[in-house]
Amino acid sequence: MISKRLQQLNPYKPGEQPDDRQYIKLNANENPYPASPKVIKAVRAVTADKLALYPDPDSVDLKKAIARMLTENRGLLAPADDQPELPFPITDDMIFCGNGSDEVLSFVFYAFFDDDKPVVIPEHTYSFYPVYAGYYQIPLKKVPLNADFSINKEQMLAEDASGIVLANPNAPIASSLSSVEIKQMLDAYPKDKVFVVDEAYADFSGHTVLPLLAEYKNLLVVRTFSKSMSFAGMRLGYAVGNPELIKALTTAKNSFNHFPVDRICQAAGIASCQNFDWYKKNCQKIMATRDFFQSELQKAGWTVLPSQTNFVLAGKPGRTGKEVYEAIKKEGILVRYFDIDTIRDYVRISIGTDKQMKQLLDIMKQL
Ligand SMILES: Cc1ncc(COP(=O)(O)O)c(C=O)c1O
Repeated sequence: MISKRLQQLNPYKPGEQPDDRQYIKLNANENPYPASPKVIKAVRAVTADKLALYPDPDSVDLKKAIARMLTENRGLLAPADDQPELPFPITDDMIFCGNGSDEVLSFVFYAFFDDDKPVVIPEHTYSFYPVYAGYYQIPLKKVPLNADFSINKEQMLAEDASGIVLANPNAPIASSLSSVEIKQMLDAYPKDKVFVVDEAYADFSGHTVLPLLAEYKNLLVVRTFSKSMSFAGMRLGYAVGNPELIKALTTAKNSFNHFPVDRICQAAGIASCQNFDWYKKNCQKIMATRDFFQSELQKAGWTVLPSQTNFVLAGKPGRTGKEVYEAIKKEGILVRYFDIDTIRDYVRISIGTDKQMKQLLDIMKQL
């Protein structure tokens, strides 16, 4: 009964959600702070008669709210001082909305990459990319990272490929390329191939490549509400790019599911954009907690890769990531390890509240 296609799939494995006891969950890069009460008010305002009707398939009001939030805030919740203004206003025809950025990325793989040439990704990056490539039978080229875990830009550009997908900041590595470095890559890259920058964690870095959209029509930026906007349970992601690329994504969506963003999600998304100050404060808190946490870990003899995200990758010399994960789990806290060469000796820890991170620090200092 099962198709040959399906038998070849290798599905994504998300961070575990065990229910044998109550855990502090620091394994899925979720936001430890709740959504704004105004978002809950917007959810409650969706009436039963409205639920009987299909939502706007194009999420027009939501796209307008996202475009406005980005334009008014240099593209980020908490832009760093040196993040330039956007050289143009972002308009709703530059935005595509989907059911989480996972779905947006799936449409991206379908819309822009063919099966004759590989799509290029870094060897260690978001582990859903190879899953999409498998799903659409697109060949994949994984480029090893440099010894310091940075992206090997030259090698990524050297491949004869149908496109590049780069998570920036990268996950689970936590560091990023600067906008100048990405601009240099775009300059050296064919203008008729799509260059995707997945900015799921950009709000925690203070930097975005959105200003480069003025110059590069082949750049597509993918974003999520899940991390910096406390929305992982609702599922909302978006892409920002040239209207031609957005049209292609819309064709992919309308050939799969006309209504991936439901009525409640659209209302809550609009309220989130209008209350971005709430998320900005939380984002700044998370960044401060992260900086404190990584410096304390370093003082305690841990190796920590400098993070520009809401998680850190940390290792204790002489212990595998799995051993560290197990020891921490015994104390009621979930983190994540990867049974993969090069990062086997690390655990990935999402940044929680100050209280949660102090509790974790006490456990880690004992190890
Ligand atoms: C780099 C990256 N991109 C995209 C996603 C997917 O986010 P969502 O589907 O929740 O929007 C994640 C989730 O962890 C991620 O780490």
